[in-house]
Amino acid sequence: MMKTWRALLVGGVVMGLSVGCGDPDNPGGEPNQESNQTDPNQDPNQTDPNQTDPNQTDPNQGPASVTYYQHAQPIIEARCGGCHGVDDIGGLELITYEGVYSNRLLSEATIREGTMPPWLAGDECTEYRHSFALKPEERELLLEFFEEGAAEGDPADPAPPLEASATSLSRVDVELEMPVDYEPRLQPDDYRCFPIDWTEEEPGYITGFNVSPGNPEIVHHVIAFYAPPELAAEVEAREAAEEGPGYTCFGTPGISDENFGRPGGVAWLGSWAPGGLGIDFPEGTGLPVEPGSKVIVQVHYNTYEGETHTDRSAVQFRFDETVERSAMYLPWANPNWLSNPNSMLIPAGDAEVRHSFGFDIASMLGANVRIYSANLHMHLLGTRGRQWIQRSTGQACLLDVPRWDFNWQYEFVLEEPEVLAPGDQLWIECEWDNSAANQPIIQGERIEPQDVRWGDGTTDEMCLGIFYVTFE
Ligand code: HEC
Repeated sequence: MMKTWRALLVGGVVMGLSVGCGDPDNPGGEPNQESNQTDPNQDPNQTDPNQTDPNQTDPNQGPASVTYYQHAQPIIEARCGGCHGVDDIGGLELITYEGVYSNRLLSEATIREGTMPPWLAGDECTEYRHSFALKPEERELLLEFFEEGAAEGDPADPAPPLEASATSLSRVDVELEMPVDYEPRLQPDDYRCFPIDWTEEEPGYITGFNVSPGNPEIVHHVIAFYAPPELAAEVEAREAAEEGPGYTCFGTPGISDENFGRPGGVAWLGSWAPGGLGIDFPEGTGLPVEPGSKVIVQVHYNTYEGETHTDRSAVQFRFDETVERSAMYLPWANPNWLSNPNSMLIPAGDAEVRHSFGFDIASMLGANVRIYSANLHMHLLGTRGRQWIQRSTGQACLLDVPRWDFNWQYEFVLEEPEVLAPGDQLWIECEWDNSAANQPIIQGERIEPQDVRWGDGTTDEMCLGIFYVTFE
C-alpha cells in the first residue's frame, strides 16, 4: 500500500528543496528585511545600535530594578546563549555580562521586533516541544532590563538558571564525518553536498539525528539526505564530476529529483541550525535505512566570520534495528503547482498573493496518518504560512508562521501528535509579497518584480510542508 500511495501522491510533489537558514543574496545579514528600519519604539536620541559604548549610561535613569544577575541572565542564557557563544556564527556573544551589555541596543531591537530568538511559529496555533521562544513574561522582563540600561546587579547572588528547553540526541550510534577538510570556494555563501557512505551492515532505522559542526563560525546550517543503494552510483558520479570534495548543491542534492520523497528516491533525514543539540525521533519510530546507501550532507557555509575557513563536520545518528513504526518525512504541496507552474502564479507587483491546497490523503491510503512534526518551506518573497487539519468538527492548527523568514526554518515538534483520519483534509496555505519594496537584493541591486512561479531557484517560490509521519 505504501508504495502505491507514495507513488501516486508524492509523485512529483517535491523538488528543489532549499531549506536552510541563509539568504543567499543577503548572507548572514539581517534576520529579516525589516531589520534595517529604525524601530519606532526606540528613543531617537539613542546611539546607533551598532556602536555601543559600555561606559555610557543613560543620565535620565535612576537605579535599575531589573538587573542582569538577578533577572536577565537565566533568560538570556536559556533563550539566546545556545547560539551566541564566543565562536558561534553571527559573532555576537551573549553569554557574559560584558557581551550582553555591549550588544544591548541591538538585542533590545531584535527582541522588540520579534526577530530574536528566531522561533517562527506563532503562539496561537498549538503547543510545541523544545521551544526556545521567549515567553511573554520573559520578553517583558528583558525589555525592561534593556530599557533600564542593562545594569549588572550583584554577581554574588545570581538568579537560578531556567530549566533547559533544548532537546538533544540521546545516543550516538553512528557518526559519519566528512572524509577530508573542505574550504568553501564560493564567497560568502557556499552550499555544498558531501556524500558519505552509510556504515551499518544490517538494515535498520535512524531514530535520532544531530550535527557536530567542525567549524561553528562558518557552518550556518546542515541538512542530511538519504540516498538508497540504487542511487549510490549516481551520487558518486555526481561528486566525481566536480573538483574537490563534494559538489555544489542548492536545495535538494540534485540526484534523481523527480523521485524525491518517493520509494527509491532521495529522502530527507534531518536538519540542523546553530544552537541545535540534535533530536531523538518520536518514541518507537524511525526512518528506514539500507546497507550500501549514502548519506548526503548538505552544508551551508557562510564565511563572513571566522579566522580560518576550513571545516570537517560530522553527522551523528541514533540507530535501531527495529522500530514499532516506520516513519517518513512527508512532503506536502499541490502536485499541480509543479506540473503546471502557472497554477501557483505570484504576479509581479502584487503585495498579497495567496495559494492553498488541501487533500484527504487518509481516504486515499485507507489509513490514518499520524503527524508528529510540521515544517514550512518558502523562498524569499514569502510573508506568512499556515498548515492545518480540516475536520468535519473544525480545524486543528499544526503550524502558523505569522512572519516568514527564510533564514530560520525549523521542524516544529507537536506537543501532541495529530491524527489525520479518512474524511480529514491536510491543508497548507502560503502568502507572498511580490511588490517592488519586497524584492531580494541580487548582486547588490534590488531586482524588479517579475511573475514568479514554483521552482527551485532563489527567485522562484515554493509552498511546501514537510511532516514527520507514520501510518496506522
Ligand atoms: C537558534 C539560534 C539563535 C538563538 C536562540 C538566538 N539567536 Fe540571535 N542570532 C543568531 C544568528 C545565527 C544570528 C546571525 C544573523 C543571522 O544569520 O540571521 C543572530 C543575530 C543576532 C543579532 C544581530 C542582529 C543584527 O541585525 O545584526 C542580535 C542582536 C541577536 N541575534 C540577539 C539575540 C537575542 C537577544 C537572543 C535571545 C533573546 C537571540 N539572539 C537568540 C542565532 C540565534
